[in-house]
Amino acid sequence: MNPFTYGTVATGESFYDRDKECDYIVKTLAGGNNIVMYAPRRFGKTSLVIKAIQKLEKQGFTCIYFDFMPVFSTESFVRLYTKSLAKQQSNLQKFASTFSTIVKNIRPVIKFGLDGSPEFSIDIASKEIDETDVSQLFDLTESLSRSNKPVLVFLDEFQEVEKLKEINFEGLLRSKIQHQQQVNYLFFGSKTHMMQAMFNDKKRPFYNAASQMTISYLPEEDTIEFLQNNFLKKRIELNTEIANYIIKVTANIPYYIQQLASEIWLNTKEKVIISIEIVDMCVEQVIIMKKDYFMELFENQSASKKQLLIALCTNGENIFSESYRSTHRLPSTATLQRAERGLIYDGVIDKIDNKHFITDPFFKLFLNSYINEQF
Ligand SMILES: Nc1ncnc2c1ncn2[C@@H]1O[C@H](COP(=O)(O)OP(=O)(O)OP(=O)(O)O)[C@@H](O)[C@H]1O
Ligand SMILES: [Mg+2]
Repeated sequence: MNPFTYGTVATGESFYDRDKECDYIVKTLAGGNNIVMYAPRRFGKTSLVIKAIQKLEKQGFTCIYFDFMPVFSTESFVRLYTKSLAKQQSNLQKFASTFSTIVKNIRPVIKFGLDGSPEFSIDIASKEIDETDVSQLFDLTESLSRSNKPVLVFLDEFQEVEKLKEINFEGLLRSKIQHQQQVNYLFFGSKTHMMQAMFNDKKRPFYNAASQMTISYLPEEDTIEFLQNNFLKKRIELNTEIANYIIKVTANIPYYIQQLASEIWLNTKEKVIISIEIVDMCVEQVIIMKKDYFMELFENQSASKKQLLIALCTNGENIFSESYRSTHRLPSTATLQRAERGLIYDGVIDKIDNKHFITDPFFKLFLNSYINEQF
């Protein structure tokens, strides 16, 4: 079986490293504090959090994982969040009765599935969901604490709460957090700039609400060992030089390392020694698979965004400096800033420290050859 996976949460043997980060999460939350974690897309945030949840559950904590990505309205939040709470309950009848006591204006419904197992849902067809319902849902969360241990809530893609401005969700949740004794939170998300704006701006409700942590690249030596050991399962040999090459072409981003490794696994017979040519052929294959999408992604950008993307194919340091702008013939600072913000918002580019980069290294490679053909 292909040991390399991407696009799903990495668990069990597929997950390596991040021990220190995992310990930090476990200790901080178990110690009664909140955390905000930032990292660019596809660095392994969700996988790390799921690992920490497994450890915390072993210690007896009730853990609620919630992903804000599919939330598009207050009603969808209420539906999905209720579902996450119900998922953790072994006795749904009891949960329904607690639910009715605390969330006063929403009726819980228990139906029985085809296999006879009970399923929890809510009846909100004839009801306008409002702030009170959301507030009571957070009270319900606290009521789930057991044996004096706080409930731990993990809010993934938390920056998406901006979609819930109509009920001032940020302010509401912040005031709950201040009063709740038995709930701790881990807020995390991939739109780093939006998360930072939320937690570092004095005027925003979440200012100073949590200890901050970031996750960065996985250490290269651990990645090399992981790749070598897994390829050995098919008696495929990967020497350190080629492993480093894989890390380089995938910009050391965990998702893309696994994607390329998976492609190599599928295209390599047993007992083969991986060469640069094999890696290049697999890179080419990944790009071919995504070609239509990449082309559309680039063609749909405004002229200034295209210019910035082209510049980022060469280098992403100090993009707002005068010399960068003149070297790459970029537009005025204001226009460039708008292009930068838009591309970051759409997840096409990101930045770490003062360095900007195209998030998908295969898109960058595609652009390099596309630009050469076109310009
Ligand atoms: N610690 C790890 N060990 C092995 N692979 C990992 C690890 N972390 C991440 N990955 C790889 O990266 C992929 C993406 O991981 P994950 O979904 O956890 O990242 P994310 O930062 O939450 O991504 P997104 O920004 O898309 O939500 C995984 O499917 C896996 O291939
Ligand atoms: Mg994620």
